[in-house]
Amino acid sequence: MKQTAKWIKTEQKYGEMSPEFRKTHLLKGNVKRATATVSAMGAYNFYVNGKKVGNAVMAPFYTSYANRVQEQEYDVTDLLTDETTFGILLAKGWAAGRLCYGGDHRFRESTSLIAHICIEYTDGTQEDLVTDEGWEVWTSHVLDSELYDGETVDHTAEIKYLSNACIDRDDHPTIVAQVGEYVTEHENVAPCEIITTPKGEKVLDFGQNMAGYVEVKIRGKKGDKIVMTHAEVLDRDGNFYTENLRGAKNRNVYILSGDGEEIFKPSFCFQGFRYIRLDEFPAEIEIKAENFTAVALYSDLKRTGEFSCGNDKINRLYSNIIWGQRSNFVDIPTDCPQRNERHGWTGDAQVFCRTAAINYDVEKFFRKWLGDMALEQLPNGGISSVVPRVRPLVKRTDSQWSDERCATGWADASVICPWEIYRAYGNVELLRQNFDMMKKWIGYMRGFGDEEFLFLGGRHYGDWLALDAGDGVYVGATQTDLIASAYFAYSTSLVIKAGEILGEDVSEYKTLYANVRNAFRAAFMKDGLPCMYPKGDALSTERTVKGLTQTSIVLVLYFGLYEEDERQGLIDKLAELIAENDGRMTTGFLGTPYILHALSQNGRSDLAYDLLLQEKSPSWLFSVNQGATTIWEHWDSLKEDGSFWSTKMNSFNHYAYGSVFDWIFGGALGIMVDDDGAGYEKITVSPIPDQRLGFAKGSIESRQGKIESYWRYLPDGRVRYEITVPKGTNATVKLPGKDAVSVSGKTYVAIG
Ligand code: BGC
Repeated sequence: MKQTAKWIKTEQKYGEMSPEFRKTHLLKGNVKRATATVSAMGAYNFYVNGKKVGNAVMAPFYTSYANRVQEQEYDVTDLLTDETTFGILLAKGWAAGRLCYGGDHRFRESTSLIAHICIEYTDGTQEDLVTDEGWEVWTSHVLDSELYDGETVDHTAEIKYLSNACIDRDDHPTIVAQVGEYVTEHENVAPCEIITTPKGEKVLDFGQNMAGYVEVKIRGKKGDKIVMTHAEVLDRDGNFYTENLRGAKNRNVYILSGDGEEIFKPSFCFQGFRYIRLDEFPAEIEIKAENFTAVALYSDLKRTGEFSCGNDKINRLYSNIIWGQRSNFVDIPTDCPQRNERHGWTGDAQVFCRTAAINYDVEKFFRKWLGDMALEQLPNGGISSVVPRVRPLVKRTDSQWSDERCATGWADASVICPWEIYRAYGNVELLRQNFDMMKKWIGYMRGFGDEEFLFLGGRHYGDWLALDAGDGVYVGATQTDLIASAYFAYSTSLVIKAGEILGEDVSEYKTLYANVRNAFRAAFMKDGLPCMYPKGDALSTERTVKGLTQTSIVLVLYFGLYEEDERQGLIDKLAELIAENDGRMTTGFLGTPYILHALSQNGRSDLAYDLLLQEKSPSWLFSVNQGATTIWEHWDSLKEDGSFWSTKMNSFNHYAYGSVFDWIFGGALGIMVDDDGAGYEKITVSPIPDQRLGFAKGSIESRQGKIESYWRYLPDGRVRYEITVPKGTNATVKLPGKDAVSVSGKTYVAIG
């Protein structure tokens, strides 16, 4: 962005309308090359002679606006005419829309933008057009646009000049070149059914829950109005259900000009939905499916993973996981796309990160988000639960920040995500960029409270949404001091691994790890099993707190906090607790991602499959049987009797439990990256076949090429394996009952 470009805004408030800033320019000769660089506090569409340039939606996207905002560069060489009008339509987007998190918050009260158009002529001269008071402000068809509430587009609105722009003298964040992916349109989905509900509502079902919007193509008369509200589910009576959207209206309004066929869609917001209700629709027009298309909106990621097996329900689960990722990878990893949140919840992203990096190439996506996380890290190493931070930061004392919950399993995203992204793509430089942040988070845990080697007290979400702490209680029963101290050890172990790769001196962290592990074992292990430690949340009166739970055993096993002679006792106890719960899990956000790994890595693959294939709630297939098309926030978001878990917090599109795919991929298919084989340079392939799936086949388009694992049961009960490994990968293939073999650059077939 050229230095002389100024941040501009409208002179006065023109209500909620999105203004269009315009500049008309006369060319001085033959153009060799022309580029436009644009950024905004808000979201913008950039036009040349009335035509939108590029396919980005909601640029400049969502960053830590307190620190940085991205600029986008467009090649406009072929779009210029003798007289060219540049237009920038500006709306609130994330920066000036309301983002809720215990109250509404806006980063900025009003929107502003900045742009630079550089025209190089064939005669060697150059012209620079920059935003300043010379730009005009015009009205637009976008009467109102808000992230949660929706958009009103009025084709009858008069387009007129209002005034010239004025300079926005407020502080602005640093402008940086685009770091992340662009958000763009993807799948187009036609309605599968037009429903009249018992209440008489006109509802269209697109058959798939997603993030995006509905495009309407229609002919009507001037002033005809279409009002549509979005929802994820119908209630048990078949009526449209919006209570779980809480304070988000998710309503788009389209007003027709009557001028032939008109196309409507919002430009600066998206909805999380499977259904729309036509609250208003012109009486003289027949409602036809062909007039409506649901358009999925998400970051422009390359698909890398594929999977299928002989069990249709698991295939549906996989599809739900993919759609969960699509819906929640709209520029940042969000919790959900529909209600008044859509925040970068760190815990959710942390547990899903490995799965995400199998399904899609998310290196760039995470590079940006982790960059924002590092910028927002508190001086004491604290990491907010939500990145970008939504609430303004208030300092209480030197070490305390009043609004910050640096929660275990959430803030650990600062260590786990860089590690997982390194593991998936082998990019050492990205690991280096994040190394300071990783160490500082360890420093936070170390400095927190009175115990140097335990993470006690604090405000945590714990084993969020686990079902073992009582009805309607959000934080699961597992003692959060135990979880926090276990994560302290785990994250420290990852910092050691990362430091060794970076050639850093990690002796301090090795000593720390030994101390934390010992302290954990002294406080939380008794007779070889996890136990209560009478501090912190052990004293909670709001919920049941336990030391010995499925989740606590899973964490001890997965994080390696046991001694070898305790292993069998731990796995037996875990099996016993599962049996006591009628063969089902009691785990929440933190126990669930690892439970199948903990079982299969310790000789109980049979039980891992039992849980994977369980159909009673809590289980993955319960939601599949209930007709889910994405992953739900709660195991029983929609109960068997058709009632809902709650109205307050009940998303049908939360990807966290979709993290089970990293077991399907790493366990069932058996493709695991070795600790010293980042970027799939060295892997171990040890599939776990199970008759109940019949066959399983999956692949990843890794940085080294395509890796595939395929097994199927033969009629004689034996299993045929087919493992394909590209040249750049060295795989150790371990098949049940066979000696390990090294495979590279070929397909290895075996029957056993
Ligand atoms: C979000 C979660 C998040 C949680 C933290 C919820 O409101 O939707 O997914 O991790 O809060 O407790």
